[in-house]
Amino acid sequence: MKKVLLISLVAAALVCAFALPNLSAATKAPGDMVLKAPEGMKAKKSPVAFPHGKHETMFKDCKVCHHQYSGSGDVKGCAAAGCHDKASKKEKMAFYKAFHSKDKRSCVGCHKAEKKGPKSCKQCHPKKK
Ligand code: HEC
Ligand code: HEC
Ligand code: HEC
Repeated sequence: MKKVLLISLVAAALVCAFALPNLSAATKAPGDMVLKAPEGMKAKKSPVAFPHGKHETMFKDCKVCHHQYSGSGDVKGCAAAGCHDKASKKEKMAFYKAFHSKDKRSCVGCHKAEKKGPKSCKQCHPKKK
């Protein structure tokens, strides 16, 4: 009987140990990512490799890029509803602008300002599609 209790306690402890890290998963930053246009927007360019982990190590403060992030809870993607979710380049909240504007929060904007990192189309979009 005692043995059964011990086994179930160990099992319960194991479940907790594996379940706990998930509590912080929402704010856990990804490593390497491949970014692509959201479904519904017809992509003209190939997906983009983004070493998220490397950037996170460089800048530490998540808000350098995730400028709407409150500091707790979920980090949303750039194309979240009400954010950079417009397909047309001309729109103020164009998806395109989140990555190519002069703003230092965008990929190209920061790479130009820092004079580091890829700046040409082909470097980031290696294929046409
Ligand atoms: C250099 C800019 C940059 C920094 C700094 C940065 N991120 Fe990100 N992060 C991004 C980009 C770009 C994406 C992709 C967003 C998308 O897919 O729309 C992303 C995606 C994410 C995602 C996935 C969101 C989703 O569901 O699409 C999480 C979670 C995340 N980052 C967390 C963090 C945390 C936590 C930090 C700080 C420790 C951080 N990031 C720092 C640029 C950055
Ligand atoms: C706030 C500034 C900043 C933003 C925003 C930013 N980067 Fe960078 N990125 C850098 C810097 C600085 C480097 C140069 C790192 C080095 O040379 O060690 C870099 C380097 C890179 C590299 C080369 C990595 C390597 O190992 O050589 C890639 C690829 C890259 N960035 C992609 C992106 C993409 C895609 C985005 C947008 C989703 C982005 N970056 C947004 C600052 C930024
Ligand atoms: C520093 C990296 C980087 C550079 C340089 C870059 N882009 Fe992008 N681009 C991205 C990221 C990240 C996205 C969002 C993910 C995606 O849609 O592939 C994107 C998305 C796009 C989109 C919208 C989605 C699509 O496929 O239609 C277009 C259009 C685009 N880029 C064109 C260009 C052109 C043209 C150039 C050169 C003038 C360029 N990009 C240079 C990173 C870059």
